[in-house]
Amino acid sequence: MKITISAIKADIGSIGGHLCPSKKLVEAVSEVVKKSSIILDHKIFHTGDDITILMSHDKGENYPEIHRLAWDAFQRGTEVAKEQGLYGAGQDLLKDSFSGNIKGSGPAVAEIEFEERPAEPFLLFMADKTNPGAYNLPFYLAFADPFHNSGLILVPKISQGYKFIIMDMDFKGEGDKVIELETPNDIYNIACLLRDTERFGISEVYSKSGHKCLSLSTTRLHNISGTYTGKDDPIALVRVQKDFPATGEILSPFSISHYVAGFMRGSHVGPLMPVRVNTPVSYFDGPPIVSGVALCVHNGKFTEEVDVFDHPYWDYIRDKASAKAEEIRKQGFFGSAMLGMNELEYTGITEKLEELDKRFIIKEK
Ligand code: 13P
Ligand code: 13P
Ligand code: MG
Ligand code: MG
Repeated sequence: MKITISAIKADIGSIGGHLCPSKKLVEAVSEVVKKSSIILDHKIFHTGDDITILMSHDKGENYPEIHRLAWDAFQRGTEVAKEQGLYGAGQDLLKDSFSGNIKGSGPAVAEIEFEERPAEPFLLFMADKTNPGAYNLPFYLAFADPFHNSGLILVPKISQGYKFIIMDMDFKGEGDKVIELETPNDIYNIACLLRDTERFGISEVYSKSGHKCLSLSTTRLHNISGTYTGKDDPIALVRVQKDFPATGEILSPFSISHYVAGFMRGSHVGPLMPVRVNTPVSYFDGPPIVSGVALCVHNGKFTEEVDVFDHPYWDYIRDKASAKAEEIRKQGFFGSAMLGMNELEYTGITEKLEELDKRFIIKEK
């Protein structure tokens, strides 16, 4: 049976700043999705201040009525957020009306259409207070590095490598600017691009037999709206096992808690902390967080989810991530603790520098 899993995420308002949506808000979104007859199943999660709608259906990727359902649910949620006086009500809904595809109007979208395998396990990742480039390192390692993906040396099908579709997220023309690169031949070319996490992001990964196993939201909100409206907190769907990496291989690189862009005001650098699903945000509007759930889908019906970072091992990683957050926060806004001028999400410093430039004098030699 050919089915599609669609994950669509948006920040439409939160309690006490950019921390967490209210129960009423999550319920309002859920009520709209529940009533739909075009989907086969759904689940709702939240991570930090973002709500994710996970749906299964038989309509294919980019199907307007599926995207409209998410749009309508987020619109209804925004009404509730306004009624409750939540912060940032409707924050990620950047267009006034729905125009056929929710991509490019604010919410983050990840979708995969596939012929269901007899067992169809997959993972959904949801990150807050960071950007799509935060996934460059973990998914590069999970699909291309035998230190994390032991299947690359143990399993012949996996040894063939994968095809990465990488997007230039700074491209402002019509459509998407992408490049297709294959491992192992292109591994250094892939590394060259993915190191620039602000500009390049993995949007899809395919097995050599042509099966899509990763879909990642690569929207950049400030390229849509022109100004800062919040970070582009990214989601990802990953099919696992058999010809694809094992679940544990995909999770392995998240133990690095690597430093990513985001944190307070989307303008700093902090470690990506793997957290339990539905965890709010805290210290310095962070640290940047990622949650993950593992499920199986059969005939379009989801099993219950396993919270992949809810395990004693990840408590130890969280402690290490907290220590890394402390370390970088010690240097406040100096050097690599704050993002470069091009990536700052506020105009304050630019305006100040323009004013100060007038006060500089040229001293004669
Ligand atoms: P299989 O059961 O598909 O061989 O999976 C192996 C595995 O995931 C061990 O980590
Ligand atoms: P969000 O993108 O999660 O709304 O966070 C915005 C922010 O500025 C936090 O400090
Ligand atoms: Mg917010
Ligand atoms: Mg957010």
